[in-house]
Amino acid sequence: MSTHNVWTHKGTFLLAAVGSAVGLGNLWRFPYLTGENGGGAFILIYALTIFAVGIPILIAETMLGRASRRSPIMGMRFLTRCHNTSRAWESIGWLGAASAFMILSFYSVIAGWAIHYTWQMLTGSLVGADAEMIGEGFDALLAAPGLLTFYHTLFIVASGLIVGMGVHKGIESGLRIIMPALFAILLVVLVYGIANGDFAAAASFLFTFNIADLSLEGWLAAMGQSFFTLSLGMGAIMAYGAYMNSEVSLTRTAIAIAIVDTSVAMVAGLAIFSLVFGAGLSPGQGPGLMFVTLPLAFAEMPFGALVGGVFFILVLGAAISSSISLIEPVAAYLVERFDMTRPQAVALMVVASWALGLLTVASFNIWAEGTLFHALAGRSPFEFIELLTNIFMPLGGLLIALFAGWALTHSEVMKEMRTSETWFMIWRFLVRFVAPAAVSFVFLRTIPQVEG
Ligand code: PHE
Ligand code: NA
Repeated sequence: MSTHNVWTHKGTFLLAAVGSAVGLGNLWRFPYLTGENGGGAFILIYALTIFAVGIPILIAETMLGRASRRSPIMGMRFLTRCHNTSRAWESIGWLGAASAFMILSFYSVIAGWAIHYTWQMLTGSLVGADAEMIGEGFDALLAAPGLLTFYHTLFIVASGLIVGMGVHKGIESGLRIIMPALFAILLVVLVYGIANGDFAAAASFLFTFNIADLSLEGWLAAMGQSFFTLSLGMGAIMAYGAYMNSEVSLTRTAIAIAIVDTSVAMVAGLAIFSLVFGAGLSPGQGPGLMFVTLPLAFAEMPFGALVGGVFFILVLGAAISSSISLIEPVAAYLVERFDMTRPQAVALMVVASWALGLLTVASFNIWAEGTLFHALAGRSPFEFIELLTNIFMPLGGLLIALFAGWALTHSEVMKEMRTSETWFMIWRFLVRFVAPAAVSFVFLRTIPQVEG
């Protein structure tokens, strides 16, 4: 195989991995989970998991991609052959592809809501609206399957176009424009939040903790979030790692990704909670925090429509730089395995995932709570897909940790890691024992939910 794609610059993997990591997980999920789970205590556990479990698995996943130089499915097949180990490890690639496919299906629907709010903000439709009006507006959006499908289609097609244009012309060039713009907008929103909101209340909510505030559910949510936010266990990082320059340090790159991703979550949290507390709203609103509470805060503030519009553009940019990383591993596999052209492969992945996304669309209206479907199945299709990904993602991470920790030889790992023996020992201890123990703990709690 001499036709491998390789990133243009040494730093491009970092750019692409940060693009994948920074997304709805940071701007939408992290703030509402923190709000629901008592603030500082949640953040403490989250940060611990990022460093003790997230970074070691991030290193392992990148390593598997770079050592195989193939898409996740073909890459795992290649590595198991090289090691004469069980073909069961190939499930890492398959689990990743299945999770990427499922996550893309609902990620795109939720990103679609941000298209709606960008439009609402920039046209000034929400200026002066009160809580009831904004709440009703959100409910009306969710109740309209046609509108949700329209936004979902726009978002997934845009993501597909970028990946379809290729690793260099599409993904790299797209990220070179999107990522700097994101950081600039994030700073604008932070400054706006400090100027117009209650920054002191936000900081004390996020950074003072009482460990007793944290329920077991909070611990689990924090661990699940640390996987989701670093894009782990889904083949995204492995696929990008396959294009990574062999000389770049895995350890330093992984630490940089984790630091940037965590900082973006903190800055977004500070900005969002400044606005929320400044407007006298409550932090524990759940998934509606970004789509109801935040528009309400913007509705009452100077230049709120403009800054709110810019904020939702930030959300969209972050979401699209993540969704392209969900398409790439599957598209790369189809190209390698079936000799498809890149546009064909991307179209297949996008159309299939789009169709699955229609189930998420239906979950908020025709199959929502209170309908016959929901009563029969005990949950909406969206909740079911989310539950499956919540199992597949950590399972993928667990297998990656075990494979890298036990199946790869010392010299192979050293060839990739090129670090001191001490760092190697620390990393191997974490992937061999700590990460598997932590993930198993999450499973013991998630599996019972499957029964309802
Ligand atoms: N890390 C992304 C976020 O925080 C989500 C994601 C998960 C993207 C898995 C790609 C792969 O929004
Ligand atoms: Na993230």
